[in-house]
Amino acid sequence: MSSSSHSERASLADALSSGISAISQAASTSELRSVMATLTGKKGAVAAVKSQLGRLDNIEERKALGVLVNEAVAALESAAESKFRELKRAEFSTQISAEKVDMTELALSAQASQRRGRMHLVTQATERLEDVFVGLGFQIAEGPEVETDFYNFEALNMPPSHPARSMWDTLFIESDVEGSVVLRTHTSPVQIRVMQEWPPPIYAVMPGRVFRKETPDATHMPVFHQIEGLVIDRGITFADLAGTIESFTKAFFGDGFTSRLRPSYFPFTEPSAEFDIRRPDGSWIELGGCGMVHPHVLRAGGLDPEEWSGFAFGFGIDRMAKERHGVNDLRDMYSDDIRFTEQFS
Ligand code: PHE
Repeated sequence: MSSSSHSERASLADALSSGISAISQAASTSELRSVMATLTGKKGAVAAVKSQLGRLDNIEERKALGVLVNEAVAALESAAESKFRELKRAEFSTQISAEKVDMTELALSAQASQRRGRMHLVTQATERLEDVFVGLGFQIAEGPEVETDFYNFEALNMPPSHPARSMWDTLFIESDVEGSVVLRTHTSPVQIRVMQEWPPPIYAVMPGRVFRKETPDATHMPVFHQIEGLVIDRGITFADLAGTIESFTKAFFGDGFTSRLRPSYFPFTEPSAEFDIRRPDGSWIELGGCGMVHPHVLRAGGLDPEEWSGFAFGFGIDRMAKERHGVNDLRDMYSDDIRFTEQFS
């Protein structure tokens, strides 16, 4: 073994041990990458030993040293590899904790900044009313809010200048024929539209917005909501009307509630009545109007009064919601103040 081979082995051993220690001291994967580049690169310690290989005269020694060089490179690479995994794991967990989002905090701040939506009291009441009537076998219909004089008055047995028209303070829409287009003052015009469109028998409720020329106060609004009911069939009597009002009362308000009818007047029903609901404590809520559909109205709807008979009813939804939730002033329901709506779920 020549002295030159000996010194190559020594410098290879040095390169290996200082390489291993450099690898083990690397503090990050990027530092490790540059350590490896220096060790195994063209100007690295291993390359320096390799370049000496060619100078060895003894072919066996050259081979043996070559094997050692390859082993040294493999040892450095495997040390680097396990160090790399170790560093990568550490870096990953640092990254994870840096990116961690505290969901508790997020949930708390969401609660503070986001309000849960709620339906308006009138919407809630309308949906409950629809549910109850659908449960009693009724279908739901709707009509336009802007109506003609014909549907709002004339077809309902109120020819032009009929004195009963003054029961509804009417808002008019500008039109070619003055006074022929109105904002509907009640949902009763939908009775006519349903009769014209649906073949009898008819069991329908018609909720919607209505308009009257009123100054807002605690119990009146110029825009409010009604639900109309219409039943047309063969042999319908006043007893069916009373029975339906009573079934509805129990289904909507509860078993402790009852209803009563008081004689009244509407041009489109004959006889006509107003109906009240009796609370369990004995007090009364005035709810709406009703009666047997007038023969003139059946004819306007295209039905033969000799063959068909029926009843109709209509009442205010807003006032009912007001009663149910103990709201003192109807105007509060339309104040657009979210704090008001939020009280009711
Ligand atoms: N449309 C009437 C009103 O607004 C109520 C009503 C409806 C009366 C149906 C009788 C029959 O006052």
